[in-house]
Amino acid sequence: QDGPLFDRRGRNVRDLRISVTDRCNFRCVYCMPREVFDKDYPFLPRTQLLSFEEIYRVARLFVERGVRKIRITGGEPLLRKDIERLIGMLAKLDDVEITLTTNGVLLPKLAQTLRDAGLHRVTVSLDALDDQLFRSMNDADYPVARVLEGIDAAKSAGFDAIKVNMVVKRGSNDQDIVPMAGHFRNSGHILRFIEFMDVGASNGWKMDEVLPSRDVIERIGTHFPLEPIDPNYEGEVAERWRYRDGGGEIGVISSVTQAFCSTCTRIRLSTEGKLYTCLFAQQGHDLRDLLRSGADDRRLDAAIAGVWTQRDDRYSEIRTAATASRPKIEMSYIGG
Ligand code: GTP
Ligand code: 5AD
Ligand code: SF4
Ligand code: SF4
Repeated sequence: QDGPLFDRRGRNVRDLRISVTDRCNFRCVYCMPREVFDKDYPFLPRTQLLSFEEIYRVARLFVERGVRKIRITGGEPLLRKDIERLIGMLAKLDDVEITLTTNGVLLPKLAQTLRDAGLHRVTVSLDALDDQLFRSMNDADYPVARVLEGIDAAKSAGFDAIKVNMVVKRGSNDQDIVPMAGHFRNSGHILRFIEFMDVGASNGWKMDEVLPSRDVIERIGTHFPLEPIDPNYEGEVAERWRYRDGGGEIGVISSVTQAFCSTCTRIRLSTEGKLYTCLFAQQGHDLRDLLRSGADDRRLDAAIAGVWTQRDDRYSEIRTAATASRPKIEMSYIGG
């Protein structure tokens, strides 16, 4: 435990993203296509998952090494039983912001509990405003209204500056960009548009289905004039814009057309306890065996430090058609 860690490109570790389940009640076409994630898909059995105590221990060591933001992801993290207990444990760590990314449908039930447990922020995914289109994007027949209720529940529970993520697939949901902007203007929520990425190996990614963020900004700007604003901090993933008339801010996340690897300070802990130093990694570094074989904090810390200091990833900067088609870990497993 000797202070900040730097990787081979001089980046330090600031954000830990923890996947708490590889399951989801949605089957988003770009993430868990139904043909692949069907009833025979080998989801992880319970015994393979890290326990909350194991997750907490890894998180605590990362915080000692400089992590300042922890994001709980999945799959759908609210499907993990008693998730509020993990939030409560993590919220006791000093100097770290605890956030969660969800599809929103369980928020009417859980938002207040999560808030009371100490969760600081939530991000909700929503890919369309048109009900039929949204049902086809999530491919599990969930109506838009359910997610909007979830966002309202989060607001009522006291979360503010709620972020709403829309993954844009050209030719699928890009016609809803402007309606989404119109809906969330003046709401206090921050809508963000994410370029469709070649994560995993099953979403059939093609470059021509990526709508560059600059087109998103242009389309919105012709209806609601926009101007750029400064990042909140160096290395922020989303590029920020605001409506000139004071209607609030939006963001664009351009990992395909404008890679942000040079300032990437993120590491991911998978559901079964492997560390991944890149969203596009092909291999993880197992911590679970160490955790379950009685290793003390010094040994565990040394393993973590070893993984980060060896890190050299910059996938999005060197993406080509060939890298896009190589086998990679699924996002529902590794965590968004
Ligand atoms: P906040 O602004 O604090 O909410 O965090 P954030 O900007 O990291 O937002 P969030 O964690 O919701 O990330 C938004 C989306 O950006 C993710 O769901 C991914 O689609 C994408 N993203 C986040 N981190 C990475 C990354 O390291 N690499 C790539 N290629 N994409 C990422
Ligand atoms: N490309 C871009 N974003 C994706 N997400 C999941 N899969 C992809 C993909 N292939 C998004 C989800 C959610 C976040 C965790 O990542 O919609 O907002
Ligand atoms: Fe589930 Fe989120 Fe993946 Fe959609 S993007 S299938 S909601 S994990
Ligand atoms: Fe970081 Fe890998 Fe994403 Fe680049 S592609 S920003 S290295 S996670």
